[in-house]
Amino acid sequence: MEIYFAPMEGMTSPLLRRNHAQCFGGCDKYYSPFISTNEAISMNNKELEDVDHEQNKGLTLIPQIISNSAYQSAMYIKLLSEKYGYDEVNINLGCPSGTVVSKGKGSGMLRDPEAMDAYLGGLQEELAKLSDEGVSIPKVSIKTRIGFYEPEEHIRITQILKSHPAYQVTVHPRTRKQMYGGEVNLDAFAHMYDELRSAGIGVVYNGDIKRPGDSEEILERFPDLDAVMIGRGLLADPSLARRIKGGEKASASEYAEYMEKILDGYIQKIGVENFILAKMKDLCNFMKPFFYGNDKGFKDMCKADTVETFRICMKQYIKNSNMIE
Ligand SMILES: Cc1cc2nc3c(=O)[nH]c(=O)nc-3n(C[C@H](O)[C@H](O)[C@H](O)COP(=O)(O)O)c2cc1C
Repeated sequence: MEIYFAPMEGMTSPLLRRNHAQCFGGCDKYYSPFISTNEAISMNNKELEDVDHEQNKGLTLIPQIISNSAYQSAMYIKLLSEKYGYDEVNINLGCPSGTVVSKGKGSGMLRDPEAMDAYLGGLQEELAKLSDEGVSIPKVSIKTRIGFYEPEEHIRITQILKSHPAYQVTVHPRTRKQMYGGEVNLDAFAHMYDELRSAGIGVVYNGDIKRPGDSEEILERFPDLDAVMIGRGLLADPSLARRIKGGEKASASEYAEYMEKILDGYIQKIGVENFILAKMKDLCNFMKPFFYGNDKGFKDMCKADTVETFRICMKQYIKNSNMIE
């Protein structure tokens, strides 16, 4: 079974991905945060950097797109394959953000199953046309949720996914309404796992894997998963994938070295102190669940108003806190 690093807009930058792969490893694939399609079939600087192979040295990147247009999606898939050499592109049908949903993208598709059906059917047709023209089509995978409002919606969503089979589907078993909170629904996931697998579609589980035991439990119940995908758990414990594969938990010095490399990378890339601090403090909020017993150290780190004070507080915090098992 493989382990994938989930896409997280604003967090899983190429800088973080590269340092993660170098310092800890254990992830078979990393997903880019979503690239929003447009009529011009163009990418902005951030998106170009995200898919640049130089920026992703030492890791396998799968670019992710988000769209409500089958034609635009097919054109981005072609671009990512022909120009950038990617052999897999992931489609986001799960993002819960209000601005995304209001455009009928991401989990906005799940609110309107007919639109989702038309989008995936249209995409299949557009890709078939490109293939007839001699374009080599990469594998297309999907990342989705179990519903928009209610978990029962997963039945219809599964039917649609089966009628336009992707190569692989990652399921985060929450509804859009739940955002990233509340319980994951393993019964709905079980139905999707059985149905999608019976249609020859690979299945990936994503949600709340925070410790090696969490992935063991998932695997025990779903032994034929292609992979588990982990987001917040890997931001908190960057050694989690390595541990799941039988390796060591991060030591405090290893953790601090990794964080310093990210900090140095942002200093070089961003330059402006307040922006660097904001980026690092965002990351610290995600790392917090891995540590306990040093609330004061965490507050000091969050209060730091210069990069160098932050560096000292961060190192102190990591050194003087306990790490969860
Ligand atoms: C800040 C943030 C940004 C995210 N950005 C994306 C994204 O760009 N594309 C995507 O498919 N999912 C995105 N997600 C969802 C994660 O990939 C993942 O599905 C979610 O965090 C649940 O997995 P976890 O419990 O392992 O963190 C984001 C989540 C968070 C918290």
